[in-house]
Amino acid sequence: MLTGKKILVGITGSIAAYKSAYLVRLLVKEHAEVRVMMTPAALDFITPLTLSTLSRNPVVCEPYDPADGTWNSHVDIGLWADMILLAPLTANTMAKMAHGIADNFVCTAFLSARCPVFIAPAMDVDMYQHPATQQNIQLLISMGCRLIEPQVGELASGLSGEGRMEEPERILEAIKRHFVERSDMKGKKVLVSAGPTHEAIDPVRYIANHSTGTMGFALAKEAAERGAAVILVTGPTTLTADHPAIERRDVVSAKEMYDECMNHFPFCDLVIMSAAVADFTPSHPEEQKIKKSRSSLTIALEPTQDILKTMGESKKPHQYLVGFALETDHELEHAKAKLQNKRLNLIVLNTLKDTGAGFGFKTNKITLIDDSGNFREYETKPKQDVARDILDWVTGRIPNNQSLTK
Ligand code: CTP
Repeated sequence: MLTGKKILVGITGSIAAYKSAYLVRLLVKEHAEVRVMMTPAALDFITPLTLSTLSRNPVVCEPYDPADGTWNSHVDIGLWADMILLAPLTANTMAKMAHGIADNFVCTAFLSARCPVFIAPAMDVDMYQHPATQQNIQLLISMGCRLIEPQVGELASGLSGEGRMEEPERILEAIKRHFVERSDMKGKKVLVSAGPTHEAIDPVRYIANHSTGTMGFALAKEAAERGAAVILVTGPTTLTADHPAIERRDVVSAKEMYDECMNHFPFCDLVIMSAAVADFTPSHPEEQKIKKSRSSLTIALEPTQDILKTMGESKKPHQYLVGFALETDHELEHAKAKLQNKRLNLIVLNTLKDTGAGFGFKTNKITLIDDSGNFREYETKPKQDVARDILDWVTGRIPNNQSLTK
């Protein structure tokens, strides 16, 4: 699967560097072409000889070799790579990468590269959870780096918690998946909705819900990375979508979301409605601010239009419709009813009973149920991994029709 893929492994100064030797071996066994670069601190943990023997290539530690003056070009190696994999990545090198500091070979190669960059952090639990580290991770993610989340467990310090570098076998899986997935949605046009809607009561107040848009943005990013052209229709959120294949449309109300989604729907192969669209909206939003001098206040609400249901009624055979169901009780029963009533191909069920699922969490726990009676329950995972599971399911099931282009 990795035959001929050029993988540049960067090793930084963490005790987890001992696992990198095994990781390099795994990559070479998969027929990847592997080159290793190390920071000065990494040399305290593992020798270049081990890594050059395993990778079958010289290891680069410095921009030049003072012994014979050999110049190692960070630009050449950065452009050579199909992927950079930083494993283990320390808090220190992560901070330098996030802020463009280029004081060693690994950091300069990172700045010179145009390929995807995967990062596998390894550090002590408090360092990992420190806001500085978390902000640096978010910065790197916003630059397009893919995070291989560290695991929870016993750490070299003796403490226990989040910070253990992911196991080499799991890192290998993530890399393989990346190369397989990168093009499996090429040529497809995908509509993703995300976030809440705001329904105006008066010019300063509105009815909303707790949706942050994280799940929808993760889905849009995953589809874009797999080669799809993505329209992301989002309600109010602070999130950013920075993939060039994502065309973002901002809306506020359920009515605006309906109009924008229906405008793009006829031209899409796949629709994923992850937005938490308001079911009711004030019938007569006040033009002026409502004053508290009133002795009581009743706000009349009227139903909004169900976007997915409308799509389900008019969908063409080549179109694949995915809905979300966030339930608090009789979860399966309600999700299956939505699948049928809205004529969906797939429903993603998440229940507020599961810890780590739903609004405001970085993770989600889902069950997928499709129109052929297939059913699969997943573990609690980061939302980006949940997005991958959903698209793994959908890819291959989207009828192989040519997209209609607008
Ligand atoms: N949905 C939609 N248009 C609406 C309301 C919901 O397209 N006006 C979509 C959501 O984006 C989601 C699915 O329908 O994909 C299910 O939404 P949910 O709120 O769980 O269910 P409802 O159909 O609104 O029913 P209820 O709130 O009674 O559970």
